[in-house]
Amino acid sequence: MPPRLVIRPARPADLAALAALETRSFTGERLSPARFQHWCGADNGLLLVAAERRASAPPLGYALSFWRRQGVSARLYSIAIAAEARGQGLAQRLLQASERQLKQRGRSRYTLEVAVRNAAAIALYQKRGFIPFGRYRAYYQDGQDALRMYKPL
Ligand SMILES: CC(C)(COP(=O)(O)OP(=O)(O)OC[C@H]1O[C@@H](n2cnc3c(N)ncnc32)[C@H](O)[C@@H]1OP(=O)(O)O)[C@@H](O)C(=O)NCCC(=O)NCCS
Repeated sequence: MPPRLVIRPARPADLAALAALETRSFTGERLSPARFQHWCGADNGLLLVAAERRASAPPLGYALSFWRRQGVSARLYSIAIAAEARGQGLAQRLLQASERQLKQRGRSRYTLEVAVRNAAAIALYQKRGFIPFGRYRAYYQDGQDALRMYKPL
């Protein structure tokens, strides 16, 4: 990852840029601005962004994880990197930071679902050590199955 970039918690000033990034990254099943606002600072969620180091820099990517207070799992709900910032290791760094912080919050299992045709995301998760363990049939609006993956933390 370029040295001028940092991984940090999302803050209220990021919310408009996160909503715009979401619109550009996904065609359906997007996180609404209200959901981003909800997860920004929630005590059972972790919303991390990758951004340039300067104070007012908008996010170039984000990862959102959340968990039930009773239990040991956390779920990676969504991760996206702006098209112009892909291929530089940002998603890997966001996942690495999420894993570390989730462990500090007492989570020992990290789970996710990913569309079976999303080869880039599946390769990313495999590289970070996620293991496939099942499928949800016709999980997405377009009819695609979801591959379920997990990683011990
Ligand atoms: C999937 C996504 C998050 C990857 O972000 P990224 O910052 O470009 O990923 P990284 O640069 O950290 O790549 C890490 C690894 O992931 C894999 N990977 C990433 N993009 C890939 C691609 N287009 N094709 C194949 N493998 C890919 C590779 O293993 C890569 O390691 P390498 O560069 O050493 O080969 C990004 O493409 C994206 O935002 N896609 C749209 C949103 C999305 O589908 N999100 C996931 C579902 S919720």
